[in-house]
Amino acid sequence: MSATATYPNYSPGLEGVIGGITTISDIISETSTLVYRGYNVHDLASKGSFEETAYLLLYGKLPNRAELDAFKKTLAEEREVPEQVYTALKQLPADTHPMDIAKVGFAVVAPYDPDYAAPATDQAANLRKAVRILAKASTIVGNGHRIRQGLEPLKPKAEHTIAQNFLYLMSGNEPDPEVAHVLDSSLTLYAEHGYNASTFACRVTVATLSDIYSGIVTGIGTLRGPLHGGANEEAMKMIMEIGAVENAEPWIRDALATKKKIMGFGHREYKKRDPRAIYLTVIAKELAVKNNVSHFAQIADILENVMETEKGIYPNVDFPAAYAYYALGIPIDLYTPIFVIARVSGWSAHVLEQLSNNRLIRPACIYEGPHSVEFVPVDQR
Ligand SMILES: CC(C)(COP(=O)(O)OP(=O)(O)OC[C@H]1O[C@@H](n2cnc3c(N)ncnc32)[C@H](O)[C@@H]1OP(=O)(O)O)[C@@H](O)C(=O)NCCC(=O)NCCS
Repeated sequence: MSATATYPNYSPGLEGVIGGITTISDIISETSTLVYRGYNVHDLASKGSFEETAYLLLYGKLPNRAELDAFKKTLAEEREVPEQVYTALKQLPADTHPMDIAKVGFAVVAPYDPDYAAPATDQAANLRKAVRILAKASTIVGNGHRIRQGLEPLKPKAEHTIAQNFLYLMSGNEPDPEVAHVLDSSLTLYAEHGYNASTFACRVTVATLSDIYSGIVTGIGTLRGPLHGGANEEAMKMIMEIGAVENAEPWIRDALATKKKIMGFGHREYKKRDPRAIYLTVIAKELAVKNNVSHFAQIADILENVMETEKGIYPNVDFPAAYAYYALGIPIDLYTPIFVIARVSGWSAHVLEQLSNNRLIRPACIYEGPHSVEFVPVDQR
């Protein structure tokens, strides 16, 4: 008998289990819709900026012009990280993955936060920390990338947006406006997504009344895996492994026949299409054509068709993000860290929400091991 039949209240992977109540975002699977605080994510990505979305998530409303200007000014002022962060990152091996760089970066920033000593329940301090985390994320990832190449970190520029700051630090050049615009939209799409694994992990951490930085580090560690945020990097490696358009159909059919998981496809919550993928696929395919990697768009078409007809499974946001970022010239192992730059806004909103009505998160489990085992002293075993 299956475990779920034996234990009717047990849901492997907590699938379908309601873990809390939120006002931050809603996933409507039947209509392939995602809303942040009531706003359709397509509207936020096409008509607004990532900064407006982050403000919406953190403060619960879209900013007016004065509020947005003040928010951007604060972000610019908080963008630099303490020199000690760079000192720490310089100690890491050159092949350290940028997700580990991000983890270390935030772990080192934490004690330098002016509100470090504030109790975990001080929500005003948590909000200030959340804004600093948002401001610093693109600097940690961008300058972390420089440091691992043996380059010196650059000073962030106050006039840049978060997307521009990342691109500037990553490349050392003034960002192209179109590239920055596409990246900005993708940050909005990546910003928030209900009780996904990393957000849930983040909430579990702060529900113990640990601090927001610990929550963020937990979130980064959880996001890294290929079943979650790491899928965008894995999807790109898969497309590159396929390499040529004529290889795509045999490759995907063989992968399905051998029960391979196709990275960037499928979703626990969306049984139809992922609205973020709907939005980004159009942009990604245009970019691929424009940037001389149109074969990636053709490979993507073939994988999408076969997955839909054979499995009824659609791409998630990580699939178009992969070849969009490639077309933008972003190194593959920075794709998941870009997700971090965006998702710190959602994680922080969830930290604030969790702590506004906190209860320790501690599910039960079913023990299937033995009982009454006699203890034998070590030398007699
Ligand atoms: C996202 C994901 C973990 C959701 O998983 P889940 O809700 O636990 O669903 P399961 O893994 O149990 O999959 C259910 C069925 O769909 C199939 N399936 C789901 N995603 C698939 C994929 N990407 N490729 C091939 N088959 C897939 C499973 O093999 C399974 O089929 P079966 O019932 O015949 O065994 C899963 O779709 C996946 O691993 N996707 C690839 C990684 C990825 O892109 N992650 C980013 C998510 S935003």
